[in-house]
Amino acid sequence: VVHVFMSYLVRRQMLKSLRTDTEHAGFIFKYHRRVLKDVLPFSAFLTDSFERRHNYLRISLTEKCNLRCQYCMPQEGVTLTPRSHLLTAEELLMLARLFVREGVNKIRLTGGEPLIRPDVLHIIAELRKLEGLKTIAVTTNGMNLTRLLPSLKKAGVDLLNISLDTLVPAKFELITRRKGFHKVMEGIEKAIEMGYNPVKVNCVVMRGLNEDEVIDFVSLTERKPLDVRFIEYMPFDGNRWNFKMMVSYQEMLDCLKQKWPNLEPVPGEETDTAKGFRVPGFRGQLGFITSMSEHFCGSCNRLRITADGNLKVCLFGNSEVSLRDFLRSGATEEELLHIIGAAVGRKKKQHAGMFNISQMKNRPMILIGG
Ligand SMILES: C[S@@+](CC[C@H](N)C(=O)[O-])C[C@H]1O[C@@H](n2cnc3c(N)ncnc32)[C@H](O)[C@@H]1O
Ligand code: SF4
Repeated sequence: VVHVFMSYLVRRQMLKSLRTDTEHAGFIFKYHRRVLKDVLPFSAFLTDSFERRHNYLRISLTEKCNLRCQYCMPQEGVTLTPRSHLLTAEELLMLARLFVREGVNKIRLTGGEPLIRPDVLHIIAELRKLEGLKTIAVTTNGMNLTRLLPSLKKAGVDLLNISLDTLVPAKFELITRRKGFHKVMEGIEKAIEMGYNPVKVNCVVMRGLNEDEVIDFVSLTERKPLDVRFIEYMPFDGNRWNFKMMVSYQEMLDCLKQKWPNLEPVPGEETDTAKGFRVPGFRGQLGFITSMSEHFCGSCNRLRITADGNLKVCLFGNSEVSLRDFLRSGATEEELLHIIGAAVGRKKKQHAGMFNISQMKNRPMILIGG
């Protein structure tokens, strides 16, 4: 065991230095990959220089959406990538297969609105066939959910996150710049009816818009198996983020504790993005995604592929590599792994902090995939 572990450490070190000169290291890299496969507890390609293992992949299925949420979609809209530059289902599945082979065991489909992609059910059904992929999750705005739920369940969706920022129909229209509140509520009810437990509800909290509704959202968890997750408002290109509009986790928690002093923490996994809580006796629970006030970069296990095929190793980093271009120029799986491993190896220890992020160039969220 000691021998295997020592050789793992030595080879990891070699791999790190190889990544600094990847152009010349192809041959040696391939050799080491073969050797490493036998000794590594987890793929060297998906392990970064801080030993974080990336076993969770988020794939954006589309840049389009049937809503226009203020915090996600710039008011002036976004320039859409020409269709021929987006990943086809086959390309996307080929990449998914490669990542799963290397140890990814959870894939989340997101967007844009993933459920408006016409071949979404085909993609899910194909992902379901991948040995080693334990969880298929979907993040959706819920607009098409009621109609699609039976097919989504049949195709193999394990987890659903439904975004809803208000329980007031008129405010829904203000936040999303579209009508649809009742459709989303219906989708949530249908998901519960179909046995999804918990149904996660993502709620971005913004001062002056919906911070007065956190208690109402938690009250919903009294009788429904919901996991309401309050997300701190994050800066992305074109969303006019400012610090004053961000409501911190601590502020939300203080407000909820005034109503429910016995609110108790729920223990979670190390890689969980949410800090979980529950009101004793309530059926559901709640959580806070504290990316701004208390980042969780140290345990990050997530990678992202954008709809146009770029690998993004950090939600808040602007460094990207086009897997699509390598794929289309005929790169072999081995070469792709080499590219992926180099990008993962360059992943920074943590994001730059909310004020720096708000000044940095990145994509609008709708073009990333949350
Ligand atoms: C980009 S959306 C894509 C999936 C789907 N259209 C939806 O709305 O659920 C994924 C998640 O990112 C969240 N999100 C978008 N922009 C955000 C921002 N600026 N800050 C925090 N969360 C954001 C959304 O609320 C949603 O829960
Ligand atoms: S958050 Fe989701 S629903 Fe809202 S604009 Fe972005 S992609 Fe569309």
